[in-house]
Amino acid sequence: MKVLILGSHGMLGQELAKTFSNHIVIAWDRKDLDITDKTQVFQKIAVLRPDIILNAAAYNAVDKAEEDKDSAFAVNAEAVKHLAFVSKEIGATFVHFSTDYVFEGIEKNGHKEGDAINPQSVYAKSKAKGEEYLREIGEKYYLIRLSRLFGKPGIGDGSKKSFVEAILNLAAEKKELEVVNEELSSPTYAPDLAKITKEIVANKIPYGIYHGTNGGSCTWYEFADEALKLKNISCKLIPVPAGRFPRPAQRPKYSILLNTKLSPARSWQEALEEYLKI
Ligand SMILES: NC(=O)c1ccc[n+]([C@@H]2O[C@H](COP(=O)([O-])OP(=O)(O)OC[C@H]3O[C@@H](n4cnc5c(N)ncnc54)[C@H](OP(=O)(O)O)[C@@H]3O)[C@@H](O)[C@H]2O)c1
Repeated sequence: MKVLILGSHGMLGQELAKTFSNHIVIAWDRKDLDITDKTQVFQKIAVLRPDIILNAAAYNAVDKAEEDKDSAFAVNAEAVKHLAFVSKEIGATFVHFSTDYVFEGIEKNGHKEGDAINPQSVYAKSKAKGEEYLREIGEKYYLIRLSRLFGKPGIGDGSKKSFVEAILNLAAEKKELEVVNEELSSPTYAPDLAKITKEIVANKIPYGIYHGTNGGSCTWYEFADEALKLKNISCKLIPVPAGRFPRPAQRPKYSILLNTKLSPARSWQEALEEYLKI
């Protein structure tokens, strides 16, 4: 099978390229194809004719998006529309990734795949619009939501900064660190998500929406605490409310993604342990 990966220099894109390497993989980063360029998207993909398109490209700067709405919507919504059309035109399976932030964040027990979304920030609205286009236009598509991605940082200039690396670096320099003890969500280990994606495609399970996170949930403080323990770093973490660090974009308070359709994934703690021991 011919597999096209878009956003191949990002955290998830890199893992998808490794995981699908027993297929013919064409891994494109932004310089190979800017997915906001409609003409190029149609021309280049129609010539390549992949069997599967994995779209790991995204505008992920959650706070910057508040001031840069057009760019966020161009990548996260309009480009998804073009990709959904071209996938349909060439009969390719289209896999697209979305976020827990499409939910409002008031449901403490988590969100199932089919629950109504209610995005709050510009970033979340742009990802939700991409979801909407995909549902309207897509035929053979998988929409996989994830949250709090961790793993080997992306090498693209625009790749999202990794929380785990940022915390470990700060903790190595400081005696104390305040970390937000709110925003309950389920971390997602990039190699695990890449494997889940491969299984979804290989098993030809029904098209639709899936939640691809690791098992369990945590706040940012709990996530950081586990990482420091695994690395034996003695910096004291101080749990603080989200209001301690006001940010331009509103985040959901509770955004656990419940997986009711796929086999359960291993816990985020097990995945984090594996990652930090590599
Ligand atoms: N990271 C998270 O915590 C998180 C949470 C929830 C959902 N997600 C979703 O998971 C998916 C993968 O995220 P990630 O963290 O792996 O992303 P990432 O590391 O930030 O990488 C995104 C990649 O997209 C590329 N890109 C941006 N605009 C592009 C364009 N116009 N044309 C082509 N490529 C473009 C970037 O290339 P440049 O470097 O050249 O700009 C970058 O390599 C995305 O759909 C994201 O929204 C991520």
